[in-house]
Parts: sequence; C-alpha cells; structure tokens
Amino acid sequence: TAVFHAAPGKACVAYTYEDLILMPGHIAFPVHEVNLESHLTKKIILKAPFVSSPMDTVTEQTMAINMALQGGIGIIHSNMSDDEQASQVYAVKKYKNGFINDPVCLSVNDTVGDVVRIKKTLGYSGIPITEDGKLGSKLVGFVSARDIDFVDDSTKKLSDVMTTSLTTGSEGCSLSEANEILQRSKKGKLPIVDANGNLVSLIARTDLHKARDFPNASRDHANKQLLVGASIGTRPADKDRARKLVEAGVDVIVIDSSQGDSIYQLDMVQHLKATYPELQVIGGNVVTCGQALHLIEAGVDGLRVGMGIGSICTTQEVCAVGRAQGSAVYHVAKFARKFGIPIVADGGIQSTGHITKALACGASCVMMGSMLAGTEEAPGDYFFQDGVRLKKYRGMGSIEAMSKGSDKRYVWGDDDIQVKVAQGVSGSVADKGSLRRYIPYLCQGVRHGLQDAGVNSLDMAWERLYNGKLRFEIRSPAAQKEGGVHSLHNYSKRLY
Ligand code: XMP
Repeated sequence: TAVFHAAPGKACVAYTYEDLILMPGHIAFPVHEVNLESHLTKKIILKAPFVSSPMDTVTEQTMAINMALQGGIGIIHSNMSDDEQASQVYAVKKYKNGFINDPVCLSVNDTVGDVVRIKKTLGYSGIPITEDGKLGSKLVGFVSARDIDFVDDSTKKLSDVMTTSLTTGSEGCSLSEANEILQRSKKGKLPIVDANGNLVSLIARTDLHKARDFPNASRDHANKQLLVGASIGTRPADKDRARKLVEAGVDVIVIDSSQGDSIYQLDMVQHLKATYPELQVIGGNVVTCGQALHLIEAGVDGLRVGMGIGSICTTQEVCAVGRAQGSAVYHVAKFARKFGIPIVADGGIQSTGHITKALACGASCVMMGSMLAGTEEAPGDYFFQDGVRLKKYRGMGSIEAMSKGSDKRYVWGDDDIQVKVAQGVSGSVADKGSLRRYIPYLCQGVRHGLQDAGVNSLDMAWERLYNGKLRFEIRSPAAQKEGGVHSLHNYSKRLY
C-alpha cells in the first residue's frame, strides 16, 4: 500500500487503475474457487459485486431485473416521474423468471393490420386481447398467427378473428404449473389472469425452454424477490419520491449527488434512516475521508466513491474538483472499513482488470455505466454508425439529460438556477450483447485476476492489502503502453 502514501514532506500523488498493476501471488486453488461474494451495504450481500449506474441510458427495470438475476444489482435512475420510478421498482420486485410482465396487448377494436405491424416490428403474433387493449384489464380473447394467416382484409376488427375459448393460468401459479398447462393445451402462449379475469402477465412456450435457474440471483430474505435499488436527489420533493419507492419495495436508495458532503444530503440521510430504519441507504459521492466521515456520522449503510472520473464526466475539467479513482477508493475504503461501511467504486471502469484493481484497492463492489450501456438490457435501441452497432450513452450532467431533470445531481440549494453548466457529455458505446453472457464473462475475468494475485476471496485480498502482502506497483507511461496490445497491424477485439 506504500504507493498510496506520500513520503514525509513530499506532495501526494494520486493514482488510478491504469497507473497501477498488481504483483502476482502464489496460486494454491483452482479459479472456480475464487469467491466474489461481497457487501453492497451493511446488510446487503451480492454474489457478483457489480452495480449498474442510476443513469437514464443504463438502468431501468430490464437492466435491474437482469443485474439481480446474475447476482449483482441495478439502481433505477430518477430522471423520470416518481410514480414511474416506483412502478419500475415494483416491476422488479414482482418479477418471476419466465413470466412476461409487460406483454403487448390489443383491444377488440384493433385490426388485423395492427397484428401484422407488431409481427413485423417485434417478431411475434400471439397477442392477448383485453377489454381496453391494456395490461390489467379483462382478458376477452387471444389472436395468434393461425387466426390471421388467411385474412386478406387488414382492416378487419380483431373481435371477428380472435379466439375466445381461452386457456389461462391463475396469478401466483408457479412456472412448472404453467408449463404443465401449456403442455396439456398444446398452445404457444399462456395468459395469466387474476381472480377477476384481468390479464397480469403472459408465458411463452419458447421462453419456458430458455428459462434457466439463476442460482446466484440477488434476492431479499423475506419474500425471495429480486433486490433492486433506486436513486433520489436531495431536494425536499425527493422525500416524497423516497416514500413511494419504499412503498414499492425498494431495497436500497442511492442518494445521487456528484459531491455528497452537503447539508442537503446529510439531512436526507438522517430523514431516510429515521423514517425507514430497515431501508439501506448509500450516500455519496465522496472521494476523501473527511467527506466520508460526515455521511457515516449521518447514518449511511454504504458509500459511493468517485468524482469526475466517469467515461462521460467533465466535472474535473469544469469544476476543477475530484480525485484520481485508485487513490480515492483506497483511502476512503480503508477509512470506512473502521466503521463497517462498504464502499462502491463508481465510474472509470473500462475492463475486467480495472474491476479487479478497484476491488483490490478496497472497494466492496463496482458501479458501472459505460461498461453496461451497450448491453441488450440497457434502455434505448441499437443503431449503426460506420458499420458499428451502438447504443446511446450520456452523462447525467450533460445538457441533454439535465433538460429532463437530472440537474438535481449537480445543483444543491438553488432550484431556480438560470445558467446550466454541463458536467458531462453524451455519446455512444459499442454493442456488448446480453448480460446473460456479459456478467459471467466479467465474473470469470475478475476470478482469474484474483487467482493470479494469489487470493481466493475479497476478504483475503483486503487482509493481504493491509498487511502489505498484496502489493501494487506504479507503471510508467511506457509500461502502461507495454501492458496493452502493441506492435500489431490490426487485431480482433472480441472479448468472450
Ligand atoms: P462510467 O465510467 O462507468 O461512469 O461510465 C459512470 C458514473 O459516472 C458518473 N456520472 C457522471 N459524472 N458528469 C459526471 O461528472 C456526468 O454527467 C455524469 N453522469 C454520470 C456516475 O457516478 C456514474 O455512475
């Protein structure tokens, strides 16, 4: 740990992931024995120490569901109305593997042409018909490819073609019960209805084949529902937002602020901990022990560390405040550990190696934006540019995001500020495929790193870090260049 401490009388130099390299240790165990289990907060433990950022191009309900299924957790962003955010939290808590909770529905007055259009754009034609064409209203029929195959008139009403003798499952049925009904009825889709006959979800036979167990899934103890987080700001109205999130079942609230050591955040932490003692609260962002101490004294259960180091951030450039992330993580983690408070290293992660370094510096989990924004589960559609498949990714301090309301992360105490100063940019990131393959790839990469360093768990890594047995060295700029791919004319960038 000597690299992080200045010699007496010398100025402090701060380092980050690219500056640092871990020294190898002795390997006495196979890679599959490396245990990545770690605390997110005092009470929440994750099997995979990964958190998706509360950003509007990263975490909405689909990301949160899939992060939790893979052993991590998603923090649903707050750049939407509080009701919408609460309903997304609720959807994650109510998620059941194999059930489609937001099926496309049509009404009896929609037409055969509507079904054809859905088939063209979304790829399926098995559609439940409800009284008002929405989920949650009475199921009155079902349309499948067979019902419309030989209908030439695209204006024909669905009431004329739909099947009305329906096989349904009841709300609360298990996946294997639903499977049995599907086997018996030989149907492709099974609508699930509540006691009043209202449509609540749908099961597709094709999805059932794909439905796997997720043994590492992050679940609460009480109901075995998926864990989910949500972010809020520090304005008085955010207390009401927090109440709605708690009512929807949120497990952890992240107070989203680029400089977390403010009277506004301290007040919010105290309010949340006094009002909802069971709720886990992560404060931040902080990069110094002084900032951390204020939030710890206010009662946080976890801290988020990082300032101005995210891929889309311009805070250090615009505000001249922040800290190199390796040093920030090391110092705050070492300090917070004395109080039993885990820290999340937030931002700046570009590879599995960076994750390993963040954890080896003392972080209990890492939070990622750009690493996850290009996955299928991130909000938004893919588009092509110069032959590359991309998704949009933007900073919450970019003018674009702030115009939707995310300026609360960057402005405290002045609600009617006239001049907006951007602290982030908007851009795009490359397609990363699905979290179903990407998260196992990240886990395995980190396991290899820890195995090379000779440690089989994060606890073991930290014990060695603090007794000097797990060592970092600083890499010169030439060494950093040497440590990357070099001397090749071109090469394949395939990750897994
Ligand atoms: P990565 O590097 O994972 O960073 O893409 C994600 C983290 O960056 C923070 N964030 C911002 N910071 N201006 C900033 O200074 C911004 O506009 C901005 N948007 C997000 C945030 O901590 C996130 O988790």
